[in-house]
Amino acid sequence: MDTIFISFEKALKKHFSIGAFNFYNLETLQAILEAGEECCMPVICSVSESAIKYMGLDATVMMFEALTQKKKYPAYLHLDHGQSYEICKKAIDAGFDSVMIDGSSLPYSENVKLTKKVVKYADKNGVFVEGEIGVLSGVEENLIVAEKEAKFTSPKEAKSFVLETGINSVAVAIGTSHGAYKFKGEPHLRIDILTEIEKELGKFPIVLHGASTIDPKIIKQINARGGKIKNAKGVSKDDLKEICKNHNVCKINVDTDLRLAFLASIRQTLKASPKETNPRYFLTEAKEYMKEIVKQKINLFSGKY
Ligand code: G3H
Ligand code: 13P
Ligand code: ZN
Repeated sequence: MDTIFISFEKALKKHFSIGAFNFYNLETLQAILEAGEECCMPVICSVSESAIKYMGLDATVMMFEALTQKKKYPAYLHLDHGQSYEICKKAIDAGFDSVMIDGSSLPYSENVKLTKKVVKYADKNGVFVEGEIGVLSGVEENLIVAEKEAKFTSPKEAKSFVLETGINSVAVAIGTSHGAYKFKGEPHLRIDILTEIEKELGKFPIVLHGASTIDPKIIKQINARGGKIKNAKGVSKDDLKEICKNHNVCKINVDTDLRLAFLASIRQTLKASPKETNPRYFLTEAKEYMKEIVKQKINLFSGKY
């Protein structure tokens, strides 16, 4: 089975992106893993610090290990937006394949210092490290980053950051944000900035956060069953296709689209089956719906669409 290092090398060489999806319970993890197997592609299973708090670190790792024992295609356990050296160390000690140290809200020199410290410990343990330079708007962990405070990644800074820290991949800010409300007007990613970053970095793995497309069909399903989600807007599929095919983006992060699918399904089945008394029925339907979405994403990111 390929290590995460090999999977990134392949993605970079063959121009596809590995889907990274957030999980926070059994059903979200099952949806991601089953989709990966059915698409015959690797998947990255991401947990945020708040998801770890919710599930507990031991339960997170044990559930991941139990569910991946018989897999034919790789699945990697990844810490998403680790905010401190301590949480990255805990994840590494617990057996994660990969950690993200997110010092993007710190001044450049402090981001370098923190990231380097994590790389040093991760290297000793054979763990992959993602760093971030440039600030996404939206919600990162519990930090609300206002749109006007978001900073696009400077291509020159990205180069020095990669060289100084020794990270294995770099997350960049090119106009995406976390959550369901990414754009006020038309979705627009700064692919020109991505191209400039690539000129500086050469062949080096880049990560795109905030890549949910926020399907209007799913928003409609939620709102038709009592939801009140207004003016939600995501990244365009065409931008994602372009990024996966013609750029060095090797990992694409999606969380919100799965959350929305989960909620749409729960609202729909609760309404459609008022006599059902078994919660597992609703959760299984929700898992199936999320799995369909993960499969669509994997196919999009791998160029099969
Ligand atoms: O980076 C943001 C992810 O969507 C994780 O969000 O901290 O609510 O789990 P969370
Ligand atoms: P979305 O909110 O667009 O799904 O982004 C998730 C993400 O970047 C997790 O790190
Ligand atoms: Zn993110």
